[in-house]
Formats: sequence, C-alpha cells, structure tokens
Amino acid sequence: MTTSTDFDIRKVGGRIGAEILGVDLSTDLGPAVVTEINSALLEHKALVFRDQRLDDAGQLRFASLFGELTTAHPTVPSVDGRPHILPVDGDEGIRANQWHTDVTFVRTPPKASTLRSIVVPPYGGNTLIANSAAAYRDLPEPLRELADKLWAVHTNAFDYAAHPAPKSEKAAEHRRRFVSRKYRTAHPVVRVHPETGERGLFIGGFARSIVGLSPSDSRDLLRIFQSYVTRPENIVRVAWTPGDLVLFDNRITQHYAPDDYGDLPRLLHRVTVAGDVPEGVDGTLSHVIEGDDAAHYTPAAV
Ligand code: SIN
Repeated sequence: MTTSTDFDIRKVGGRIGAEILGVDLSTDLGPAVVTEINSALLEHKALVFRDQRLDDAGQLRFASLFGELTTAHPTVPSVDGRPHILPVDGDEGIRANQWHTDVTFVRTPPKASTLRSIVVPPYGGNTLIANSAAAYRDLPEPLRELADKLWAVHTNAFDYAAHPAPKSEKAAEHRRRFVSRKYRTAHPVVRVHPETGERGLFIGGFARSIVGLSPSDSRDLLRIFQSYVTRPENIVRVAWTPGDLVLFDNRITQHYAPDDYGDLPRLLHRVTVAGDVPEGVDGTLSHVIEGDDAAHYTPAAV
C-alpha cells in the first residue's frame, strides 16, 4: 500500500488500477488532494473509489475538479435535466461490450471518464480497463516503429459486418441514435500523453482503418496492435457494488463492459472531462475528416 498525505493507494493489477482508500468524495476536496488524485490517476490510469454513494450532483462536482466537462455524448441523449450525464443503462441497450476508448470518433475525445454504479447485477456486469501504454511498450521494436508512423480513422458509423444485429428494439433504437450524426477523425495510432509524455496505442473499437492501407491490411494490423492492449496482464477488472465510482484516464486506456448479465438491470452514470487534441510522436495533431468539430459536445473543440 502506498501512503499519501491524505489517502491510501492499493494497487489492484500489476500494470493498471488502484483502489483509493480513506477519501470521501462528497466532501470538499482541497487542491492538494485533487493534485494527489491526479498524480495517482497518471500513474495507475484507473482509480476505484468504493462505497462513495454520490448523487448526480456529487459526481458532477467531483469530475469538474479535473477540468471542464463535456456534455453527455455527441449523439446519445443525457439523463433528463442533466445534460452532462450519460445513462449507461443495460435496459436501454447501452452495453459497451467492445474494447474502446470513449468518443474517439471526434477530434477532442474526453481526457477522463467517471463511472458511478447505481444498479448492478448480482453477477457479471463488470468493467475491464486496459493500459494502452503497457501495450505499446510490449510491442516488439519493429512493430513499435511501424505504429509510431501510422494514423487510424475513427468513426461512430457502425461496421455492420463486425457487429451482430441488435438484440432488442431498444438496442436498435440506441444504435440509430448513436449514428444519427456521422463523425470520422484521423488520430495517430501512437498518442503522446499530454501530461506524462508516455506513448500509448490509441486505437480501440472506433478505429476502423489505417490511413493509406487497404481494408484488409488495416483490419489485420489493427487486430495485431489491439491484441497487445487486451493481454490479460494489461487489464484490471472492476466488479461493481452500488455506490462505487471509477475514474480512468481516457487518453491512455481502453475499456470493455462484458454483456454477461442477461436481462438483469445494470445502470451506471457516466460523466466525462473534456480533453485536448491528440498528438502523435512527431507532434502532428489529429484532424476531422467528416462531421463537425463537436462543439455541442466538448468545450475543447473551440
Ligand atoms: C462506457 O463505455 O463508458 C461504459 C462502461 C460500462 O458500461 O462499464
């Protein structure tokens, strides 16, 4: 256990994830504590705060400590009367059962995400979070050098060949909303973290092709890079109990919520902190290929 001045940090996985003990997120956290939490976030990439039992206002207040908030989502509606909160509701077909980094189809994806558990199934419904910097470091050098030079196109348009048909009318409606405005953005395959300078693979489920490569070469290369992200040693698994809050660094992780809880209810609320424009190893910035700059979604767009 690592002792900080104000709370304890207990690592959960060898390469990612820590539980933060002895902090009450409903209290007024001073700037020193926020700085320490941010340092822990940069080091461990995913932080779990158990049994916090925050309400919506408490989650918004906590997330705001790390920067300006995005609205709930570029296309998916928010919780009623709470424009910054996305309901991750299994009953509504919102089941994030593919590896992804949040909202990478826009030019300025969120810097960090908070997830708060409200209703959790008695089994399953976990969230897996992967360390994409460890994945980059695991690559053999020739693959790392190749990745450094590549750019990927991320889009919210569904790849109907890769995704099975929705299981319910609600899931179909969610998919229709998700694609109601189309975005395509080019991001570097290797992103340099703006605070630490660490390099990480910046791909995931919205990355559908590699700039300059054929669809089949793109698919094969993305599959190889992605296989390093999803190695078990690069993943932490969060088993939720109601009232938990997880904060993860969306610039250097991917996550996945296995759809293994059938018709049981599962509801999390997600609030995300606005992020900057990703930068590749040569300093080149991401750019929009199709769609707007998502200014209705993120203050970072302007
Ligand atoms: C998400 O992708 O933000 C949702 C993750 C989850 O359902 O655990």
